[in-house]
Amino acid sequence: MDRLLVTGGAGFIGSNFVRHVVDRTRMDVTVLDKLTYAASREALAGLPADRVRLVVGDILDAEAVDPLVRDHDAVVHFAAESHNDNSLADPGSFVRTNVLGTYTLLEAVRRHGTRFHHVSTDEVYGDLALDDPTRFTEATPYNPSSPYSATKAGSDHLVRAWVRSFGVPATISNCSNNYGPWQHVEKFIPRQVTNVLDGSRPKLYGSGENVRDWIHTDDHSSAVLRILEDGAIGETYLVGADGEHSNLEVVRLILELLGRDPDDFEHVTDRAGHDLRYAIDSTRLRSELGWEPRYADFPSGLAATVEWYREHADWWRPHKQRTEAAYAARGQ
Ligand code: NAD
Ligand code: DAU
Repeated sequence: MDRLLVTGGAGFIGSNFVRHVVDRTRMDVTVLDKLTYAASREALAGLPADRVRLVVGDILDAEAVDPLVRDHDAVVHFAAESHNDNSLADPGSFVRTNVLGTYTLLEAVRRHGTRFHHVSTDEVYGDLALDDPTRFTEATPYNPSSPYSATKAGSDHLVRAWVRSFGVPATISNCSNNYGPWQHVEKFIPRQVTNVLDGSRPKLYGSGENVRDWIHTDDHSSAVLRILEDGAIGETYLVGADGEHSNLEVVRLILELLGRDPDDFEHVTDRAGHDLRYAIDSTRLRSELGWEPRYADFPSGLAATVEWYREHADWWRPHKQRTEAAYAARGQ
């Protein structure tokens, strides 16, 4: 593979993956990104211009997508509407980008016989009880809860159908909650860190007992590259770093890292249909492809991320006021 097309490569995880590919391979990368509110040109700044090119465009635009797919050896598909709360307010954009956008890409890779990797989420499996001893595996039945996770589940099913029916050479990864630099301030960890940096209190939905399985985005990127290079066509790999923590624990950690009273947070209106717990068993990825996370210790990865947000206020501050106004309008 010499030429890689990365959709959504100006987003939080896609931009991290582009950097990872440039640092560790000889591949040239074209980013196809619509530059929605969630994108950031800054996240791609400083990359070598002779190896990375940004094409501003929509994955729903079949005429733009087709020649790009034709001219590349593989497609890694990150582009999506990604935020659950937004999917409750405006599900239509999620159906369009996540379902129809994936369909548009699949039709192009079908025409050109192009290798395709689809980046998906553990949310397609629904949620687990807090005391459930099992974790999600590649065999867990689909049971999505939110409009976001339903559209990601739909896109996964499309990929599987295009593999089986048309022989498209595709793989899928389903990853747990990512954290790290360049994540939009609408998401849980950046929101709470920037709240504290701005002198306001972190906002916990409901009781805060909900558990997420945190993974550093560098580790997600290394997993996607492993699967792209050596994954078995037609197969799915779960990506996780054994990072289960309740939201309450995470908020307390953030407050401590920033030198504040760990109980100085507030409870706000819960998310409708809020999934209780996600937990990933990534044995397959580790045993079959030899992948291991670098950030095995969540508190130290979180400390580095908190520091990054402290140092990059000029990047996140322009987004903060509008994001908080939207939350405030919902009592969150
Ligand atoms: P993000 O919202 O930060 O970035 C999404 C990117 O896609 C943005 O740059 C946006 O401009 C682009 N985009 C959106 N609609 C587009 C369209 N129609 N055409 C072209 N580009 C478009 O998202 P993220 O958190 O980086 O997530 C990336 C992918 O990883 C998504 O597919 C998401 O479902 C998946 N994922 C995310 C997580 C997580 O914790 N954030 C975990 C597992 C899987
Ligand atoms: O599991 C993978 C998924 O993780 C990805 O597919 C999604 O793209 C990504 O957004 C993320 O989904 P979540 O809904 O889990 O992430 P979010 O950051 O929105 O919320 C994490 C948890 O924190 C969740 O239980 C809701 C809670 N929360 C969130 C916000 C924004 C709060 O308690 N307070 C908040 O202000």
